[in-house]
Amino acid sequence: MEAFRWECATKVRFGQGCVREYLAGLVKEFAPEGGNIMIGYGGGSVKRNGSYDDVMAVLESMGYSREGNAAEGRMIVEFPGIMSNPTLRRMREGAELASLMDVALIIAIGGGSVMDCCKAIAVQAKYKGDAWEDFWMQGKPMTHERIPVGVVVTMPATGSEVNGCAVLTNEETKIKTDRDYSEMNPAFALMDPVYTLTMPPRQMRAGTFDILSHIMETYFSFPLEDNPADDVSEGLMRGIIRDFRAAVADPGDITARSNIMWTASLAENRIIKTGKSKDFEAHNMEHQLSAYTDCNHGEGLAVLHPAYYRHIYKAGLPKFVRFAERVWGLSPADYGSDEELALAGIDALAAFIKEVGLPTTLRDIGFGEEEFEMLPEIADSCFISSGAFRPLTKEEILEIYRECM
Ligand code: NZQ
Ligand code: ZN
Repeated sequence: MEAFRWECATKVRFGQGCVREYLAGLVKEFAPEGGNIMIGYGGGSVKRNGSYDDVMAVLESMGYSREGNAAEGRMIVEFPGIMSNPTLRRMREGAELASLMDVALIIAIGGGSVMDCCKAIAVQAKYKGDAWEDFWMQGKPMTHERIPVGVVVTMPATGSEVNGCAVLTNEETKIKTDRDYSEMNPAFALMDPVYTLTMPPRQMRAGTFDILSHIMETYFSFPLEDNPADDVSEGLMRGIIRDFRAAVADPGDITARSNIMWTASLAENRIIKTGKSKDFEAHNMEHQLSAYTDCNHGEGLAVLHPAYYRHIYKAGLPKFVRFAERVWGLSPADYGSDEELALAGIDALAAFIKEVGLPTTLRDIGFGEEEFEMLPEIADSCFISSGAFRPLTKEEILEIYRECM
């Protein structure tokens, strides 16, 4: 096992009604001297699932208001319109507003895009330099003061609620990338599974696959020997496959939806990353597809994973064999060799992706001739993972993209 440091500073409150029960106490804890509060959200889904109303009701009961006097430090500053795949430009607009209004706490209400954008706003608002350049591009140490961030999750997928990661897209350079700083972990996360019930089926499928992807990206990396992180990952993968099927069959199944929500956090609170080299090459390949075409993150991953694994499985054969046996329940007795068994495990993953109604080709997610022509440039722009069983070349990434068409 590799040496590691593990931290997860976020306070989590999970369950129906948790915003009304816990938000006031958390606001007092993280903005003890008052100060204006910024509320970040997306295109409006928060106003249809109850989360926005719950947050407002709690803040208003504490004396905060939208009309309040900013100088008195009791004002609610709204920052809506955070788009999926949030852009650097939108983040900078938010940071400017937060700085202008002297915001003491940011509350992000939404999915990964809103959480990520708000986490980055909190960093940039108090920073004199260019946070994108210094942290996202150069990975410098983050030592300056930041605005605390609380999140109210409405879409389980990224696990952004419990990690220090924030993914931004620089539209000018066409680079979409993440950085994970423990300093960027939200101060608190409120997770009410009822909010997630209004997610459109397409988002529910995409987000749930993203969760499985995070576990696989971590599991399929060194070490190959038995280790506790992989033992946990296998249980989480079996569980998310079970809950995914249940939620597709009955989107109102609150047990399945609750399980999915918490699995998203367990996959990304870094516990399954302990001692692991961590791959995330499928994410690197997807992020650049998204930087060029704005495609959906979870759907892009669903298309890429089986093709990617057929390329690299020989380099991590024992882990792919374990995956076939322990996650998909395949028996070695039915296969002539480890390679056959490993490939059958990848086939089982591909069949599952189809079964739950996810896209299986880039054409399914809207790629046509124009996007096909862009593939060499996109492949060339991808980061190469240093934690993979075998590093890909840019030529091989292009091959994988073309196989996915
Ligand atoms: O904008 P609104 O109206 O809120 O609608 C959103 C959005 O259109 C909607 N939605 C969210 N909750 C809903 C809902 N609709 C109805 N009912 C609800 N309860 O869902 C749409 C997608 O939301 P978004 O936040 O974009 O999705 P997701 O959570 O998948 O986040 C995707 C972003 O996170 C990045 C991705 O690359 C992408 O930019 N990632 C962040 C990671 C992290 N911070 O750790 C890791 C991931 O691997 C990922 O890269
Ligand atoms: Zn992801």
